[in-house]
Amino acid sequence: MSLMRLAYASEATFEAKPAEQGVEPHVARILMTSRRNNGKCNLVGGLYYGDNRFFQYLEGEERDVRETFERIQGDSRHRNITTLIEEQLDKRTFSNWSMKYVPLSTDVRRFLSGHGLESFNPALFTSQQCEEMIELIRRSSGDQKLVNHDATPVKGKKAQAFSPGLRAGLLVAAACLLGALVYAGSLL
Ligand SMILES: Cc1cc2nc3c(=O)[nH]c(=O)nc-3n(C[C@H](O)[C@H](O)[C@H](O)COP(=O)(O)O)c2cc1C
Repeated sequence: MSLMRLAYASEATFEAKPAEQGVEPHVARILMTSRRNNGKCNLVGGLYYGDNRFFQYLEGEERDVRETFERIQGDSRHRNITTLIEEQLDKRTFSNWSMKYVPLSTDVRRFLSGHGLESFNPALFTSQQCEEMIELIRRSSGDQKLVNHDATPVKGKKAQAFSPGLRAGLLVAAACLLGALVYAGSLL
């Protein structure tokens, strides 16, 4: 049994939703699958998604890491996959996260500006920058909840059960019903 770790960068093929619209559904689905599958084989790691790019770190049994990476490489939700780290590991370095999700957070923004980088483009990271990213994933509070991919709190917006159009329609229908009742009452 040998352990290994792997990190790669890739570009999302889907069009990112504006951050204020909430969780990017593609990323939410990827996380759900990852947590289900990785948990079964004790694969741990983290996923960053920002500026429509991914940075993923995986560590575990070599066979599991390789099998999982094979599947990931065949996934049409991303392209231009660049392997950044692929090496043996003496012992595990990560706490037990099947797939920790970290949005492009203040920490990462600080890291980028500290290196004079304008956008999140992990394919161009040096090995030192990769290690810093992995450390950011390790340190992150790793909210299990699916958070807005840009970590921008959507202020003053409560979850609405109905869309604005449907709400307006229901109001009109209620007003018509009320009018009909009043009219029917006046005829009696
Ligand atoms: C950026 C990215 C990261 C992914 N990470 C994982 C992962 O860590 N584990 C995993 O099982 N699948 C991951 N997937 C999904 C796989 O590509 C594939 O869809 C999935 O493993 C199929 O699993 P299923 O046969 O259980 O549906 C990832 C996909 C993308 C696009």
